[in-house]
Amino acid sequence: EKGGYEHFMLKEIHEQPKAYRDTMLGRMNPEGTKVILPELKMTEEQIKNIKNVQIVACGTAYHAGLVGRNLIESLARIPVENDIASEYRYRSPIVTPETLVIVVSQSGETADTLAALREGHANGAHVLAITNVVGSSIAREADDVLVTLAGPEIAVASTKAYTSQIIAFALFALYLAEVRGTQSEKEIAHILAAMQSLPEQVESILEKKDDIKAYAEHISKHEHLFYLGRGVDYAVAQESSLKLKEISYIHSEAYAAGELKHGTLALIEEGVPVIALATQEAVLEKTVSNIKEVKARGGEVLAITHQEHVNDLLKSVDRVIAIPKTLPMLTPALSIVTTQLLAYYASLALGHDVDKPRNLAKSVTVE
Ligand code: M6R
Repeated sequence: EKGGYEHFMLKEIHEQPKAYRDTMLGRMNPEGTKVILPELKMTEEQIKNIKNVQIVACGTAYHAGLVGRNLIESLARIPVENDIASEYRYRSPIVTPETLVIVVSQSGETADTLAALREGHANGAHVLAITNVVGSSIAREADDVLVTLAGPEIAVASTKAYTSQIIAFALFALYLAEVRGTQSEKEIAHILAAMQSLPEQVESILEKKDDIKAYAEHISKHEHLFYLGRGVDYAVAQESSLKLKEISYIHSEAYAAGELKHGTLALIEEGVPVIALATQEAVLEKTVSNIKEVKARGGEVLAITHQEHVNDLLKSVDRVIAIPKTLPMLTPALSIVTTQLLAYYASLALGHDVDKPRNLAKSVTVE
């Protein structure tokens, strides 16, 4: 049932605060200083021996893995590679018993992701699955399962599953950091406190959906657009672009902001919409200089940033959407909500079947 919403996708976007809370529930100590994941069979010794991590998935789950990489690398200081499952399974990946393979799948039934899991096993790796479906094939075959508690996702376009995967990655990265001693208890408590504020912060973004709707109606008249970002903003740009293509059929591309001038800048002309994710303070100035390159070619820029940067950014862009402040590594859990809504309202404006986009299936159980 759609619970009063016009589409499952809109309902699922609105269920994200609950999905975040449910995915965190019971997974930290009452003081909020430690992550506890009693479901994991992996021993402390196994965790200390991990030499590298490979995160393998398809589509949106792959994009969640890009955010997961940043969380694991920055918190636990373990090298991480991301792979698309259909590539990984055929490229003889270098996997050892000290490799932790993490497969990510909402449905737990994606054929290529299941094959990637088996490839990991065949090479002696420990495989952890992050999935939304407890009894799925991937959950059954993996050595360890970290369940996302997003609840059933019906719309073909994944929303709450993606953000719950990010929450699961954050918890797991903190857990690795605890066991390996790479973060202090104080730092862990600080991050957990920030995570607990996320549901309320998502609510505040949802309250601003009319602004996003107006901008979506504007972009629905365009044929191409670009998403830019650096670091995790680039990861979110990729997911934002997929979401838009998938349900609105507007062509878009996601670019690492610094990469644009190596070719793609040639496509920027008068009036082309460019959505710049600009939430990462450490590289904000760099992103702003990329935005200026776009503006100089006539591109029309919308920036997604924190409130405190709005006035400054308005000197270089046409429009701004502000999101609440969180830690840089957690911003994807907020910024994506704006671009999910953007995709939703663009699809709606164009009269497409939002929940069942053409050519696509919810679960891809064939190669
Ligand atoms: O069930 P999975 O997470 O394994 O599915 C992977 C992709 O097929 C899926 O995320 C797809 O990209 C979504 N339709 C995107 O919204």
